[in-house]
Amino acid sequence: MTTQRTFSIIKPDATRRNLTGAINAMLEKGGLRIVAQKRLQLSRAQAEAFYGVHKERPFFNDLCQFMISGPIVAQVLEGENAVARNREIMGATNPANAAEGTIRKVHAESIEANSVHGSDSPENAAIEIAFFFSGIEIVG
Ligand code: CMP
Repeated sequence: MTTQRTFSIIKPDATRRNLTGAINAMLEKGGLRIVAQKRLQLSRAQAEAFYGVHKERPFFNDLCQFMISGPIVAQVLEGENAVARNREIMGATNPANAAEGTIRKVHAESIEANSVHGSDSPENAAIEIAFFFSGIEIVG
């Protein structure tokens, strides 16, 4: 077990419904510490760059359009095995498949408007954190 960092986004469907605090409480209750956080309005180019790995997927355009439909909250989360832990707390990508008590089961509206994003590996966490934050903005 090692202390690790992961990257998280509270998505526009959740900020629209004023759920930032409710989601943060679930992250903290799940054992993660929010060591950096900022609320942003992404541009189309920024959304396309962030989700670049998905650019060949059929849902890419809709995903980018959704991600610029309102503010997001970008976060760095820290804790024991933070990447895997955050994925447990979030639940499955599709809320229909998410376990009881997970963020997506409780709050998500659909597979697209699924309230949160979380890095899928420590390598991608480092890339995603660096996309949004400089070192001086992360305070553990
Ligand atoms: P996220 O973890 O942010 O990574 C990519 C996102 O694409 C995913 O969450 C979903 O919100 C979104 N998405 C939209 N449609 C699909 C789909 N059919 N399969 C997987 N992801 C999808």
